[in-house]
Amino acid sequence: MHAYPYTITISSEKGGVGKTTLATNLAIYLKAMREDLPVTLFSFDNHFTIDKMFELQKRAENTPDVHALLMGAKAEEIVQIGQYGVGYIRSSTELSDIHERFKGPMTLTRILAESGISGIVIIDTRPDLNILTQNALYAADRVLIPVKDLPSLDNCKHIFALFDQRGIDKKSLELIPCLIDSRIKFDGIFKDQKTLLRAIAGNRGYRCMDTYISKSPKVESLNTNPDGKIYPILTHARNTEVHSQFMEITRDVLRSVDAAEETRACLYHTWLLEKEAGKREPLIRST
Ligand SMILES: Nc1ncnc2c1ncn2[C@@H]1O[C@H](COP(=O)(O)OP(=O)(O)OP(=O)(O)O)[C@@H](O)[C@H]1O
Ligand SMILES: [Mg+2]
Repeated sequence: MHAYPYTITISSEKGGVGKTTLATNLAIYLKAMREDLPVTLFSFDNHFTIDKMFELQKRAENTPDVHALLMGAKAEEIVQIGQYGVGYIRSSTELSDIHERFKGPMTLTRILAESGISGIVIIDTRPDLNILTQNALYAADRVLIPVKDLPSLDNCKHIFALFDQRGIDKKSLELIPCLIDSRIKFDGIFKDQKTLLRAIAGNRGYRCMDTYISKSPKVESLNTNPDGKIYPILTHARNTEVHSQFMEITRDVLRSVDAAEETRACLYHTWLLEKEAGKREPLIRST
């Protein structure tokens, strides 16, 4: 039977809102909470955080990476099983030349559908809305948009506008308040950062996750430490509230995975095959 992935894209035009932290740690929590579910992670960024975090052994320079995925390589050639049992695709510095190939909005959906990757795919995007990010947005069954302040919340309108322009249902789009500093308090009904962000989001018609991610010095130190390593929250920040918040986010994601009857990759691929079959029919009749 053909495998189709359930795709989660983490996106925000604003830099430093916690996209990569969410993508990498969500992959680890998903694997910890549902061991038998394959989880594959990749990034369009060239920070190599994913490689540093998940690589079990140094790979040869020519090991297939995200560039190979975008050129249509199959799962068995590109997905490496890394630390914590998380599958990952090596990051690439060579994605600029590929934009031409990605003029269409559904190219990545097709590539994922045909890749043979199963389970959950998590895509970490760059802080922009270039054609690769757009493809990742349209391919997603669920888009998580971290917002930490008013500028990042304002930026969300560009993602929503992209969906409107293409006439795509926006039900996959969901904001998540991130880097919430519990020391920030306001007088009046919007008593803190997350309540204020939620209220403004609701006012603008954006869906917001019930949970949020707190700003934690411990979590920040997982990325920048004298070891030069990137440690997961699950193993190195278990005594923070961010740990329970990630458990909650992961439960929420697993509920939506279980409830999904057909993923976007499956729906699009079925539609494409039917379209192609439709094209072939007249040809057969005319001979
Ligand atoms: N919950 C948190 N508490 C404290 N610091 C955090 C938290 N989450 C992320 N950070 C820190 O915030 C910074 C930005 O996080 P991250 O790299 O995940 O953001 P990003 O949106 O992926 O950034 P970019 O747009 O540059 O890719 C990092 O230094 C990270 O360690
Ligand atoms: Mg990032």
